Formats: sequence, C-alpha cells, structure tokens
Amino acid sequence: MSKKVLVSGGLGYIGSHTVVELQKSGFEPLILDNLSNSSPQVAGLIGRITGNRPFFEQTDLCDFDALEGFFGRQGPLAGVIHFAAFKAVGESVAKPLKYYHNNLLSLINLLRCMGLHGSPPLVFSSSASVYGQPARLPVTEKAALQPPASPYGQSKQMGERIVDDAAKAGQVRAISLRYFNPVGAHESGLIGELPPGIPDNLVPYITQTAIGKRERLSVFGKDYNTPDGTAIRDYIHVSDLGRAHVTALERLSKGNNASGHEIFNLGTGKGYSVLEVITAFEKATGVKLNWDFAPRRAGDVESVWADTTLANLKLGWKAEKGLEEMMVSAWKWEKNLSAGILDQ
Ligand code: UD1
Repeated sequence: MSKKVLVSGGLGYIGSHTVVELQKSGFEPLILDNLSNSSPQVAGLIGRITGNRPFFEQTDLCDFDALEGFFGRQGPLAGVIHFAAFKAVGESVAKPLKYYHNNLLSLINLLRCMGLHGSPPLVFSSSASVYGQPARLPVTEKAALQPPASPYGQSKQMGERIVDDAAKAGQVRAISLRYFNPVGAHESGLIGELPPGIPDNLVPYITQTAIGKRERLSVFGKDYNTPDGTAIRDYIHVSDLGRAHVTALERLSKGNNASGHEIFNLGTGKGYSVLEVITAFEKATGVKLNWDFAPRRAGDVESVWADTTLANLKLGWKAEKGLEEMMVSAWKWEKNLSAGILDQ
C-alpha cells in the first residue's frame, strides 16, 4: 500500500513539524508549497532532523493543471494533509478577495484532483477561531460556531463547510482539526515559526523581544474578567499538533472514522493567561522580558480553551508537552534563526 502523503504547505510552520512526524511514522510526505510564507531551506532542515530530505515541489494549489499533473505523476496516495492557506487575520480584513480566492480555490482544486485520482482521505487544517468567545468553557466540538470576525476566519468556516458537503455527497472522507494556539518549535531548534515582518502572535513577539529584535512586548488588555486580568488561551506545542495529523490520517486509512467528516479540537485542555506565558518564558529561559500593558486588541476574545475529550478518546491522541517545553523550544529556534540557520 502507498505510504505517500501529499502535504500542501508542508514547508510552513505546522506543515514542517507534521512532515517530521509523518517520516518518523514511516510515511513518505510529498510537499507542495508556493513559498508565499515559507523558505525552501526548510526541506533541508527537515532532512537534518530525520536523515531524510523530503520531496518538495514549488506549486500553487490555485493552479489546477499543475496540481492535477502532480497527482497524475505520483500515482496512488495514502492521504492528503492540507495546510496551504493564508493566515494573517489583519491582512485578510484589508484584502478579503485575496484570502477567499487563495484559501477556497486551493481547497476546491485539491478536492477535485483527489476525486479524479483514487479519492485518498483528507486531513483539513481548521482553527479554534470558529468558536469566537464560547458561552461555556472548556469548549467542545458541539459548541455553536460564531460569525467569523475576519475573512480569514470566514475562509476556515467555509472550508469546513465545503469539506462537509463533499463528504455528505460521498466524495471525500475527511477529518478537520481545530487548532487552538500552536506555539513552540521542534526540540532540535532546526525548524520553527517564520513570522513575516512584525509578529502578530504572542510567542514570536516574546522571543523577538527577548533577542532584542523588538524593544518591548505589549500585553493587550489588563481588565479582562480573568484571575490576573489578561486574556486566556490554550497553547499547544506544534510537535504535538504534528503528531495529531498522523493519528488522524491513520484513523481514516483504517476506516475507523465514525462519519465522512469528523471534527476534533486540538489543544491541551488547559488555559494560560498572557502574564502566565511571560512568567513561564522568563522562568524557562532565565531571560527577563521588557513588557508593558497596552489597550485591548480589537477582535480578541477573553478566554478560550479546549475540551479535548473527543480527540483523547477517538483519535487516541493527547498533547504531551507543557508550557515550559513550548517556551524553551521557541527560544532555541529564535536563537538559531538569529544565528543565521536559514543561510547555512
Ligand atoms: C490568533 C488568531 C487565530 C490564529 C492564531 C494562531 C486573531 C484574532 N486570531 O489567535 O485566528 O489561529 O493566532 O496562533 O488574530 N497578545 C499580546 N501581545 C502581543 C500579541 C498577543 O498581549 O504582542 C495576546 C493577545 O491579546 C491574546 C494572546 O496574547 O490574548 C494570544 O494572541 P495570539 O498569539 O495573537 O493568538 P490569538 O489572538 O489567540
């Protein structure tokens, strides 16, 4: 049986960590990536971790003919894991058509090609942002979805819907994974997040401040209804997340899925405030952070963390790495990055 798995966006942050986990589990990941938010050096760095440089071809999934050509050349696939998408929330508000065009057309092209070439199973990258501020915490997969706050969030909800409709029509078997807040880097420090420009997300902003690339971290909001007044999220180590994709693929391959389209939360089930993350970083690395309070950031919710029961029981997956490992690995990666790991 084929062990080939198409990983779209496989040079990106979550994609690259998933490729490592796939190789470790005996799969042969094939990466398609248009390099819009990733570096071609990542393929070589993955090879340094696993001893096996993965196949990589620069392809844009919006180009149907190029994608179809790939499927035709590769023969049967064991599965497809679809990461390739734009993900900057602020940019999506300014450039909605860019986001709808890229995130939806790539998914539709992929589903069409999969239908033409043996219908391999699909693992789809979704986001906990579909929940907005949930009425009850921890949030389960059954919670009502909130109207998306951005075209990015909307494209994820629409993506889930497209997958759902295709599954109902018997055209695909799929699992959508709703990520909470992916952070950290591979323990080797060889791959990690590559935020373009000024980071939006908390952990890359922390590590860039610690290394001196940013002067000061702003903590957005100190008057939330939480124990220390700062907002709470469920941070999950990106390698745990990568492993969950392998587990999801295996579930689909074995036919263990309970329906044509299953949805799982991926988090640790534990929430940490912004101040707790800062303290964890300082404690784990011994580096003192320069930070200040700033007003709340528009669009932020107060508190969200996952109920992971479904993923624990049905996928047989559980996050293993704690906040300290997330901070230590993110810091190791930041130091390697500033030492020029991508230029070697
Ligand atoms: C964001 C995205 C979400 C995406 C996720 C990926 C929004 C509204 N949501 O989630 O769609 O899936 O990233 O990881 O952008 N914070 C600071 N100072 C900073 C940066 C962040 O205090 O410089 C705070 C935020 O206010 C928030 C927490 O840190 O309370 C986490 O923020 P962030 O890492 O940006 O993630 P989310 O906003 O939860």
